[in-house]
Amino acid sequence: MSKPVYVLGGPNLNLLGTREPEIYGRDTLEDIHARLKGLSPAVPLVLRQTNSEGELVTWVQEAGREACALILNAAAYTHTSIALHDALKTLKIPVIEVHLSNPAAREAFRHVNYVAPVATATIAGLGAYGYELALGAALRLSSQGGS
Ligand code: DQA
Repeated sequence: MSKPVYVLGGPNLNLLGTREPEIYGRDTLEDIHARLKGLSPAVPLVLRQTNSEGELVTWVQEAGREACALILNAAAYTHTSIALHDALKTLKIPVIEVHLSNPAAREAFRHVNYVAPVATATIAGLGAYGYELALGAALRLSSQGGS
Protein backbone atom coordinates (compact mmCIF):
# COMPACT_ATOMS: atom_id res chain seq x y z
CA MET A 1 0.00 0.00 0.00
CA SER A 2 1.45 3.39 -0.99
CA LYS A 3 1.88 6.14 1.57
CA PRO A 4 -0.94 8.71 1.68
CA VAL A 5 -0.86 12.36 0.75
CA TYR A 6 -2.02 14.39 3.75
CA VAL A 7 -4.31 17.35 2.95
CA LEU A 8 -4.63 19.47 6.06
CA GLY A 9 -6.75 22.58 6.59
CA GLY A 10 -6.69 25.21 9.31
CA PRO A 11 -9.26 27.39 11.04
CA ASN A 12 -12.56 28.42 9.47
CA LEU A 13 -12.07 26.32 6.34
CA ASN A 14 -15.00 24.21 7.61
CA LEU A 15 -17.12 27.26 6.69
CA LEU A 16 -16.12 27.27 3.01
CA GLY A 17 -19.11 27.66 0.74
CA THR A 18 -20.79 30.25 2.95
CA ARG A 19 -17.81 32.18 4.35
CA GLU A 20 -17.06 35.27 2.23
CA PRO A 21 -17.82 33.43 -1.04
CA GLU A 22 -16.68 36.45 -3.06
CA ILE A 23 -13.17 35.77 -1.70
CA TYR A 24 -13.11 32.01 -1.11
CA GLY A 25 -15.63 30.73 -3.67
CA ARG A 26 -18.78 28.63 -3.29
CA ASP A 27 -17.21 25.18 -3.04
CA THR A 28 -17.40 23.58 0.38
CA LEU A 29 -14.39 21.79 1.84
CA GLU A 30 -16.26 18.52 1.21
CA ASP A 31 -16.59 19.47 -2.49
CA ILE A 32 -12.84 20.13 -2.69
CA HIS A 33 -11.98 16.89 -0.91
CA ALA A 34 -14.34 14.89 -3.17
CA ARG A 35 -12.64 16.33 -6.26
CA LEU A 36 -9.21 15.36 -4.93
CA LYS A 37 -10.39 11.80 -4.25
CA GLY A 38 -11.57 11.58 -7.86
CA LEU A 39 -8.18 12.74 -9.10
CA SER A 40 -6.12 10.21 -7.17
CA PRO A 41 -7.99 6.91 -6.95
CA ALA A 42 -4.70 4.98 -6.63
CA VAL A 43 -3.10 7.12 -3.92
CA PRO A 44 -4.72 7.25 -0.50
CA LEU A 45 -5.56 10.70 0.84
CA VAL A 46 -5.85 11.76 4.47
CA LEU A 47 -8.23 14.73 4.44
CA ARG A 48 -8.62 16.73 7.65
CA GLN A 49 -9.53 20.20 8.93
CA THR A 50 -9.18 21.66 12.40
CA ASN A 51 -9.80 24.97 14.12
CA SER A 52 -7.09 24.20 16.68
CA GLU A 53 -3.44 25.21 16.26
CA GLY A 54 -2.14 22.40 18.49
CA GLU A 55 -4.08 19.75 16.59
CA LEU A 56 -2.73 21.08 13.29
CA VAL A 57 0.85 20.89 14.65
CA THR A 58 0.23 17.29 15.82
CA TRP A 59 -1.11 16.35 12.37
CA VAL A 60 1.88 17.96 10.62
CA GLN A 61 4.17 15.85 12.82
CA GLU A 62 2.08 12.78 11.93
CA ALA A 63 2.37 13.62 8.22
CA GLY A 64 6.14 13.68 8.66
CA ARG A 65 6.01 10.05 9.80
CA GLU A 66 3.20 8.68 7.63
CA ALA A 67 2.80 10.72 4.43
CA CYS A 68 4.59 10.85 1.09
CA ALA A 69 3.66 14.56 0.78
CA LEU A 70 1.70 17.26 2.58
CA ILE A 71 -0.76 19.77 1.12
CA LEU A 72 -1.44 22.46 3.72
CA ASN A 73 -3.80 25.40 3.87
CA ALA A 74 -3.02 26.68 7.34
CA ALA A 75 -5.53 29.51 6.88
CA ALA A 76 -5.04 32.25 9.51
CA TYR A 77 -2.31 30.24 11.31
CA THR A 78 -0.19 30.89 8.21
CA HIS A 79 0.22 34.44 9.44
CA THR A 80 0.72 33.77 13.16
CA SER A 81 2.07 30.33 13.99
CA ILE A 82 5.74 29.87 14.81
CA ALA A 83 4.78 26.44 16.23
CA LEU A 84 3.55 25.41 12.79
CA HIS A 85 6.69 26.82 11.16
CA ASP A 86 8.88 24.79 13.53
CA ALA A 87 6.89 21.59 12.91
CA LEU A 88 7.07 22.03 9.13
CA LYS A 89 10.81 22.60 9.34
CA THR A 90 11.29 19.03 10.60
CA LEU A 91 9.60 17.43 7.56
CA LYS A 92 11.56 15.61 4.88
CA ILE A 93 8.63 15.27 2.46
CA PRO A 94 7.34 17.78 -0.14
CA VAL A 95 5.07 20.40 1.42
CA ILE A 96 2.74 22.30 -0.92
CA GLU A 97 1.16 25.34 0.67
CA VAL A 98 -2.25 26.29 -0.74
CA HIS A 99 -4.42 29.37 -0.33
CA LEU A 100 -7.73 29.88 -2.12
CA SER A 101 -7.23 33.64 -2.16
CA ASN A 102 -3.97 35.50 -2.77
CA PRO A 103 -2.93 36.74 0.68
CA ALA A 104 -0.16 38.88 -0.85
CA ALA A 105 -2.85 40.99 -2.54
CA ARG A 106 -4.93 41.42 0.64
CA GLU A 107 -4.53 43.13 4.04
CA ALA A 108 -1.01 43.79 5.32
CA PHE A 109 -1.39 41.32 8.20
CA ARG A 110 -1.77 38.53 5.62
CA HIS A 111 1.61 39.41 4.08
CA VAL A 112 3.36 37.82 7.07
CA ASN A 113 3.75 34.12 6.27
CA TYR A 114 5.36 31.54 8.56
CA VAL A 115 4.59 28.61 6.23
CA ALA A 116 6.07 29.69 2.88
CA PRO A 117 9.73 29.73 4.05
CA VAL A 118 9.46 26.07 5.05
CA ALA A 119 7.24 24.89 2.17
CA THR A 120 8.45 23.39 -1.08
CA ALA A 121 6.03 25.56 -3.06
CA THR A 122 3.05 27.86 -2.62
CA ILE A 123 -0.09 28.00 -4.77
CA ALA A 124 -2.33 30.99 -4.04
CA GLY A 125 -5.16 32.89 -5.66
CA LEU A 126 -6.58 30.12 -7.85
CA GLY A 127 -9.50 29.13 -5.63
CA ALA A 128 -10.35 25.45 -5.26
CA TYR A 129 -8.39 24.67 -8.44
CA GLY A 130 -5.23 25.36 -6.43
CA TYR A 131 -5.84 22.12 -4.52
CA GLU A 132 -5.94 20.11 -7.75
CA LEU A 133 -2.65 21.65 -8.87
CA ALA A 134 -1.18 20.97 -5.44
CA LEU A 135 -2.11 17.29 -5.62
CA GLY A 136 -0.49 16.97 -9.05
CA ALA A 137 2.66 18.63 -7.71
CA ALA A 138 2.67 16.55 -4.51
CA LEU A 139 2.46 13.30 -6.47
CA ARG A 140 5.10 14.37 -8.93
CA LEU A 141 7.53 15.46 -6.22
CA SER A 142 6.93 12.52 -3.90
CA SER A 143 8.08 8.97 -4.32
CA GLN A 144 4.71 8.06 -5.90
CA GLY A 145 5.30 10.40 -8.81
CA GLY A 146 8.03 8.67 -10.73
CA SER A 147 9.33 11.76 -12.56
C1 DQA B 1 -6.64 31.50 3.33
C2 DQA B 1 -6.05 32.91 3.43
C3 DQA B 1 -5.83 33.30 4.88
O1 DQA B 1 -5.30 34.62 4.94
C4 DQA B 1 -7.12 33.28 5.64
O2 DQA B 1 -6.91 33.54 7.01
C5 DQA B 1 -7.89 32.02 5.46
C6 DQA B 1 -7.91 31.37 4.14
C7 DQA B 1 -6.97 31.14 1.87
O3 DQA B 1 -7.16 29.95 1.60
O4 DQA B 1 -7.09 32.03 1.02
O5 DQA B 1 -8.58 31.56 6.36
O6 DQA B 1 -5.68 30.57 3.79
